[in-house]
Amino acid sequence: MANKQKQMLAVWGSPGGGKTVTAVKLALELSKRKKNVVLVFTDVTAPTLPAVVSEKKLPDVSVGELLAAPGMTQEQVLKTCVPCEKNPYISFLGYKAGENVFTHAEYSKEKAVDMLVLLRHIADYVIVDCTSLLTGNVLATTALEVADDVLRVCSCDLKAISYFSSYLSLVADRKFKPEQHIKVLSNTRPYQGGSEYENSFGGVKYRLPYLPSLEEQAATLKLLEPLSGKEAKTYEPVIAAIAGEVFGDGK
Ligand SMILES: Nc1ncnc2c1ncn2[C@@H]1O[C@H](COP(=O)(O)OP(=O)(O)O)[C@@H](O)[C@H]1O
Ligand SMILES: [Mg+2]
Repeated sequence: MANKQKQMLAVWGSPGGGKTVTAVKLALELSKRKKNVVLVFTDVTAPTLPAVVSEKKLPDVSVGELLAAPGMTQEQVLKTCVPCEKNPYISFLGYKAGENVFTHAEYSKEKAVDMLVLLRHIADYVIVDCTSLLTGNVLATTALEVADDVLRVCSCDLKAISYFSSYLSLVADRKFKPEQHIKVLSNTRPYQGGSEYENSFGGVKYRLPYLPSLEEQAATLKLLEPLSGKEAKTYEPVIAAIAGEVFGDGK
């Protein structure tokens, strides 16, 4: 019997460790299949959308508004999705510039579940960029629970080791299936090539290298552009392999 097609990936990991960069690059990779991808940004502490797409081009919508409003219909979700100007297959759901945790009324876990279920109907693929600070972030915590897979992004720094030693106990519950997380070492510099970090994270399956050009893309609102040159060849096959493991070959 064929495996059930996986459709939703939650990306979670240490603060500043490359969750957003990895989520965007995975969305770009999936868009090559000419299928629709919705990328959900759950960060309300530092809204992600204005850091990925030029603020001037953003419509006045917010996932916070959607979650706080009464009801949850496909139409409401579609109205809140921001189409990506650079790629017709990608759209975003996220908080807008200036919002914070007090901007909207609190919402229930059921509301988050309803939204994620609707997204499964709307899109071929859903990637949820979860926050490191899960406490109080119902959407991110719900996504960790209901996604088909979780990519655990572990950056090569001592802060990441400290983060996981504190936070893993918070996702230890069976509902989060932590032992099934797919671990990726992210933003790896050549001098971090040894196995010390891998061992501290209990083994990792993938390694994403540090690319100066990717750092530049992130700083100049160009993450949605393809990488080029030799560097790309060290990075893109890893993204393609993760997409393949999670979402199959798309056929
Ligand atoms: N593979 C990478 N190569 C180079 N820089 C990276 C890479 N991954 C992340 N970064 C840098 O780290 C910063 C933080 O990454 P980001 O994805 O925003 O972290 P998070 O979402 O986990 O907080 C980015 O702005 C970028 O400068
Ligand atoms: Mg982020």
